[in-house]
Amino acid sequence: MKHRLLLIGCGNMARVHCTAFKEINNLRLVAAVDMDLERAKSFQQSYGFERAGTSWEDELEKGDFDVVLVATHWQVRFEIMKACIEAGKHVLAEKPLSMILGEVESIFELANKNHVKVRVGMMERFRPMFLQMGEWLKKGYIGRPHAFSFMHHQSSGSLIPEHTEGAWNYQKNLLKGGATPNVDCGIHKCDLVRMLSGKEPVSVISHGRKLEADAPSNNFTHSVFTMSDGSIFTLEDCYSRNTRGFIHMWVLGDGGMMQFEYAGSHARPTPGSQEDCIVIWRREKPGTETYHTPAALKPVGPQMESFLKEIEKDADLNWHYENVTKATEMVAATVLSESRKEIVKFPLSAKDRKDIGKLFWK
Ligand SMILES: NC(=O)c1ccc[n+]([C@@H]2O[C@H](COP(=O)([O-])OP(=O)(O)OC[C@H]3O[C@@H](n4cnc5c(N)ncnc54)[C@H](O)[C@@H]3O)[C@@H](O)[C@H]2O)c1
Repeated sequence: MKHRLLLIGCGNMARVHCTAFKEINNLRLVAAVDMDLERAKSFQQSYGFERAGTSWEDELEKGDFDVVLVATHWQVRFEIMKACIEAGKHVLAEKPLSMILGEVESIFELANKNHVKVRVGMMERFRPMFLQMGEWLKKGYIGRPHAFSFMHHQSSGSLIPEHTEGAWNYQKNLLKGGATPNVDCGIHKCDLVRMLSGKEPVSVISHGRKLEADAPSNNFTHSVFTMSDGSIFTLEDCYSRNTRGFIHMWVLGDGGMMQFEYAGSHARPTPGSQEDCIVIWRREKPGTETYHTPAALKPVGPQMESFLKEIEKDADLNWHYENVTKATEMVAATVLSESRKEIVKFPLSAKDRKDIGKLFWK
């Protein structure tokens, strides 16, 4: 079956998606929309969209597509997604769907009511490295996991001042509306730890700092979750000119340790590679085992292919809706913990949800 796509929001992440779409045979690129016509036109030229425009409302009137990719910032996503769903379109949306918890729930209710499918871009679930790790953790390669740690610093600092400023402005945009790095990037890791451990969060304590006076929110965030089996999940994300880009991720069990890293050019704890990499130390098997898995900058191609199949099969996606809801609650709770300077417990109370509502704005 050939699907027809409308893209709303022609920015950085949309480029990553559209590059991957070149490999998907049953997807026709119908229209690219951005508030900035030049951006939409450049997408038409680069990726072969049939037309370019500035109004998603006009495109919904035309309606000659069945799937919409919403790659704007979250602040405008609810309104756009709601209109698309009510027009009977399936929607793949970038993360976070919204930081207003009630909006996340109502989008999923609306999708079920209108018999359309929604996917939110928790694409790390499609990365071969994490799929492989999940299998090995289940088999007990490092015994019972006791601690998960994801430390990820994204530096906008550069030796070339004009690059620094551009990158910092880009990061500042992602932090608008109350979001922190543990919200914007941490949402992937919250989703991954739930996937890898099969456990739910019980509580979180979070601290944050503004490393730059003009940061819209805390741009260094450090959170510690306790999971339902007592294991610990440490999440630290930083978007700043004042850090050096690096990433350090590991799982510690009672029989060994797994360290893992993305392919690429960040300064890595283990030597850089064109492939993602898992390094294992096991008590029962002395020495270091190193495994490489295929890497994509972002596994958005497999995500879209899987979504198209789910549409065709009329698959039940309530499991996905639950994952997105829980990951969103986890990151929202980190911001609540920072603002109250105290531990937040799960499930969130009605008061927690009300207070979270005051911490994010459009
Ligand atoms: N999954 C990931 O790994 C990942 C990585 C980076 C960004 N993201 C997410 O992707 C989203 C977009 O980020 P980005 O980096 O591409 O930002 P961006 O600023 O580069 O792109 C957003 C685009 O949306 C357009 N836009 C905004 N409102 C619009 C509207 N009402 N109608 C039409 N166009 C509109 C803007 O003009 C802009 O071109 C964010 O939610 C971000 O968190 C995800």
